Amino acid sequence: MASGNEEETARRYSWSRIGPASELSQKQCRLMFSFLGRESDVCLFYVKGEFFAMDARCAHSGGPLCDGDIEDTDGALQVFCPWHDYDFNLRTGVSGTGLQQQVYEVKLEDGSVYVRHTSPLSLQPFSSGQKS
Ligand code: FES
Repeated sequence: MASGNEEETARRYSWSRIGPASELSQKQCRLMFSFLGRESDVCLFYVKGEFFAMDARCAHSGGPLCDGDIEDTDGALQVFCPWHDYDFNLRTGVSGTGLQQQVYEVKLEDGSVYVRHTSPLSLQPFSSGQKS
C-alpha cells in the first residue's frame, strides 16, 4: 500500500544538526560523514546564499563531488564531478547524462543547519565503536 510505504520512508529519515550556518557558509562544500559509512557520506554545499545536500560519491563511478566545480547554467546551479565532468543539479540531483544523484532536504532553524537523511550525519567521522 502506497501510504504504508510513505510512512515507512518518513520513519527512516531524520534530521541531523550539522552546525551553525554562519560557520558552514564560510566554505563552498563540506563533507558530512554518515553513520552508515563512507558510501553514504553527504556533501553540504553553500552556493549563492543557499545550502544544498547530496550524496558525496558521484552516481557514475564514485568521484568526490565535494571537489567539483560549481557553475550557474541559466539559473541552475550544477556541480561538475572532478573525475569525468558529469554535471549534477544541486537542487534536484539530475544530470544531463541521465544519471540521478541523491539529494537531501536542508533546513535552517535558530541559526543552525539541519540535513534530513536515513542516518545520523556529522562533520566528524563516527568511530567504529559507535556503530555497534
Ligand atoms: S565518477 Fe563522477 S563523472 Fe565519473
